[in-house]
Amino acid sequence: MGDLSRQAHWENVYTTKGENEVSWFQQSAAPSLDLIVQAGATRESAIIDIGGGASRLVDNLVEQGFEDVTVLDLSAAALAAARSRLESHLGASAEGVNWIVADVTRWEPARAYDVWHDRAAFHFLTDPNDRDAYIARLKGGLRIGGHAIIATFAPDGPEKCSGLPVARYDSASLGQMLGAAFRLLHTQRHEHATPWDSRQHFQFSVFRREG
Ligand SMILES: C[S@@+](CC[C@H](N)C(=O)[O-])C[C@H]1O[C@@H](n2cnc3c(N)ncnc32)[C@H](O)[C@@H]1O
Repeated sequence: MGDLSRQAHWENVYTTKGENEVSWFQQSAAPSLDLIVQAGATRESAIIDIGGGASRLVDNLVEQGFEDVTVLDLSAAALAAARSRLESHLGASAEGVNWIVADVTRWEPARAYDVWHDRAAFHFLTDPNDRDAYIARLKGGLRIGGHAIIATFAPDGPEKCSGLPVARYDSASLGQMLGAAFRLLHTQRHEHATPWDSRQHFQFSVFRREG
């Protein structure tokens, strides 16, 4: 899928569907939040949510007192929705959040983060060149010693999401993809219930960047 059509796809999703009309909606991003805390993140840690879309993870992080949160997504509409929701219920504490509209495979990180979180964005990269570009950004945007928390569909998860094909991973195949610079610390399966109560198997994996 070309860059423009990829962006057009996601803008269309977020301008035509409500927050809880998409399969990946979660009322609370508890599995991600728990792993971020378990990775040792402190209030000052720099945390980026890659492909964060309109996820409520940013709300959960700000509510927990995290002060340096960035959300990156291809869709400006998704980030605008998240931002306005956050401002309406958290007021001034929402002002510190950084919003980046970008394709992660083209983005040039301007700083290194302590935690790189991605739930259901990486798995859309089915072209090896896009995956290589993503991993180059991961290396540029995550400090050595920092943690990458990546959730994809598990090997027995759906083959498509939002009408697009996905690549499915367990922790071993994801670790192999990321390369030797990333050491697997923890992995867990997660059964996600969609808003229409079907079940999707995710695999969450936590890696430490070592080189
Ligand atoms: C299935 S949604 C998941 C959203 C969010 N992470 C969550 O858990 O609710 C996938 C998200 O990845 C974003 N995305 C897809 N490809 C991307 C890319 N190449 N760069 C940045 N964001 C991307 C989409 O716009 C969408 O918001």
